[in-house]
Amino acid sequence: MQKSKRNLLDEEAKASLDIWRYVFGFADIAAAKCAIDLKIPEAIENHPSSLPVTLAELSVAVSASPSHLHRIMRFLVHQGIFKQVPIKDGLATGYTNTPLSRLMMITKRDGKSLAPFVLFETSPEMLAPWLRLSSIVASPANGSHPPPFDAVHGKDVWALAEDNPCLSHMINEAMACHTRRVVPRVARACHDLFEGVATVVDVGGCTGETLGILVKEFPWIKGFNFDLPHVIQVAQALDGVENVGGDMFDSVPKCDAVFIKWVLHDWGDKDCIRLLKNCKEAVPPNIGKVLIVESVIREKKKAMIVEDRDEKLEHVRLMLDMVMMAHTSTGKERTLKEWDFVLNEAGFERYEVRDIDDVQCVIIAYR
Ligand SMILES: C[S@@+](CC[C@H](N)C(=O)[O-])C[C@H]1O[C@@H](n2cnc3c(N)ncnc32)[C@H](O)[C@@H]1O
Repeated sequence: MQKSKRNLLDEEAKASLDIWRYVFGFADIAAAKCAIDLKIPEAIENHPSSLPVTLAELSVAVSASPSHLHRIMRFLVHQGIFKQVPIKDGLATGYTNTPLSRLMMITKRDGKSLAPFVLFETSPEMLAPWLRLSSIVASPANGSHPPPFDAVHGKDVWALAEDNPCLSHMINEAMACHTRRVVPRVARACHDLFEGVATVVDVGGCTGETLGILVKEFPWIKGFNFDLPHVIQVAQALDGVENVGGDMFDSVPKCDAVFIKWVLHDWGDKDCIRLLKNCKEAVPPNIGKVLIVESVIREKKKAMIVEDRDEKLEHVRLMLDMVMMAHTSTGKERTLKEWDFVLNEAGFERYEVRDIDDVQCVIIAYR
């Protein structure tokens, strides 16, 4: 058989299996959410015997019916989330955690768990707009169709969160767990940038998790956690951090350096430029800087062999771009060329990009 014909048959055989991912792909996320809801990773980790946990023991620990739990665990073991190992001389089996299931511990605030993020993204409010993705893509350029989130909820995510404290809490917890993972990496990569800096404003700083980490790492700085009033109402009271309510589109409080993580991607270019101008105005001329923690989408696929880790990080960035389409009105992940455009339009003539070996990197814009 010709090589090209064999390749085509191989691709067709692969496709006929891959299609099922799109038919039932949601089961992966739903089963992981179930494990988090039931605190299965915690039940295994904290089991008194510290041995692999049998189905009978696990069903008591999480108050679940053994027959359903068996099916969920069979699926999650197949997914590599938990392990099932022989015990009692091979006469029975028990479950153990894996590095992946430990990232699903809702009770752990260790800078690794992303469980609160899973619960936020799988909430009914955040799932519903996904089913309208095609309507925004098919919408004429004049934006006559409302974005998916607004079409479902009648308002944007920040207005909905203001009216819905439960959703607002989920957002805050999701952001905080992401911050615990990423901000220590930023601090390590940008240590020099905090030298000689007395005041830092975290724009859209949520409940203050970021500044809590930064003032511990750089105790000479005074932090101002700046966010919408309903978020500031529930912000943490932290030594060295003052909480300030306001609208970042009006102005940003004056400071030596602005920190802005995962905010600019929520907005289209017009709002993004306006916000960057406010950040620029907030810092002193010649020495002021704005630290932007965001993704940079690769312009082109590297021609050379691409590291598996790089490829996986890029996949997360592209998924995040889909999230922006589903959950914000105009937000997007940007390529370096797109960042260059908004930074130049906002009047920043000089910037540099630092890698933190994660989905995001740090763009430092100098006033
Ligand atoms: C995606 S979250 C990022 C939170 C935090 N920077 C982090 O990365 O964990 C965006 C934040 O922007 C805040 N925000 C949205 N609109 C705002 C506005 N007009 N003024 C101030 N903050 C705003 C939201 O309340 C939210 O905390």
